[in-house]
Amino acid sequence: MFGKTFNLDLNLFSPKSPRLLGIDISSSSVKIIELSKIKKKSTNMLRLERYVIEPMSKEAIIDGNIQDLEAVGESIRKGWRKSGSRLKEVALALPAAAVITKKVVLSAGQREDDMVFQVEAEANQYIPFSLDEVNLDFQVLGPVPDHPEEVEVLIAASRKEKVEDIVAAVQTAGLRAVVMDVEPFAAQAAFELMKHQLPESGESQVIALVDIGASITRINIIHDGESVYARDQPFGGDQLTQEIQNQFNLSIEEAEAAKRKGTLPENYNQDVLQPFCETLALEIARAFQFFFTSTQYMQVDCIFLSGGCATIPGLEAIIAERTQTITQIANPFLNMELSNRVSQRQLKQDAPLLLIACGLAMRSFDPS
Ligand SMILES: Nc1ncnc2c1ncn2[C@@H]1O[C@H](COP(=O)(O)OP(=O)(O)OP(=O)(O)O)[C@@H](O)[C@H]1O
Ligand SMILES: [Mg+2]
Repeated sequence: MFGKTFNLDLNLFSPKSPRLLGIDISSSSVKIIELSKIKKKSTNMLRLERYVIEPMSKEAIIDGNIQDLEAVGESIRKGWRKSGSRLKEVALALPAAAVITKKVVLSAGQREDDMVFQVEAEANQYIPFSLDEVNLDFQVLGPVPDHPEEVEVLIAASRKEKVEDIVAAVQTAGLRAVVMDVEPFAAQAAFELMKHQLPESGESQVIALVDIGASITRINIIHDGESVYARDQPFGGDQLTQEIQNQFNLSIEEAEAAKRKGTLPENYNQDVLQPFCETLALEIARAFQFFFTSTQYMQVDCIFLSGGCATIPGLEAIIAERTQTITQIANPFLNMELSNRVSQRQLKQDAPLLLIACGLAMRSFDPS
């Protein structure tokens, strides 16, 4: 069911989709991507025009909630300037935790407004607050197997204040939110670009998208384009930074910089980095165990690692070993043309951080 597109504030959507910037607003940075579509040898290709990763001030976003609107707006504004993009209309995503999704069955062949009416009636039953307080959107997924008179519909609802905060933040930066997606859906859209790297393009395989960010590790397991399991853990690169800070008596900024540059004492690898990687790998293995016991699935065929921690040397191998699963670092840009503004070497390092922003930028090319 996932991999579908959402637009949580219907009023914002303009009927003719302009090219959009994808902006992923996360706890440690804002990621901005501009893609374009080009024709090469009469096939359509995507081209990465530009991207920027702009640091976000600490405490501006906590637990996925915007705490300091001005600071978030400032990071977006700075990033946008650096990017050199002229696009001002943007696609954004809400964290999965801020959105309720529910699949319902409705009768097929209804008029749009009848459908909206029914979606609202359905939503009323399971959303724990008044419909005035939520942004609602739905997607018709297709006919119910063996029941052509019915269709499956996926409803997404989010608290208005969540949507308003993030829309206000980009507004502060002089940009306009046009599309509001949900993070795992955006990541899945980017995964579509990586499928061909798998045997038989990942057909019938069980794939785990594992994003290890600064504060959260997100595991989303998909099977034939449907999410079959999702789990967030409040654990990520911040824990490693903290450990470095304690062990080597550094400030948070020093610890963060030393971690990225790899300028730490010799015992760092063994005493700090290794245990961190082991803990991470164990968390992932444990999540897989939960997945196996709570569903009919018995294996994961492949892991795609994303997020800033995916770039930690050796982590991929430790995760592969502990989970006994083929593991690779996500790079949605492998089949894209790169504009000459983009450094191939730098992109290789940054690619795993850019999954969500990439999926959002792809919303420019939605059929509409
Ligand atoms: N070269 C590197 N080596 C080690 N860690 C790194 C490196 N580059 C980035 N990181 C870490 O990755 C994390 C940032 O990753 P990412 O940008 O994916 O997080 P985020 O999206 O801001 O956070 P979240 O998704 O949890 O809100 C930070 O903890 C950072 O220290
Ligand atoms: Mg992130």
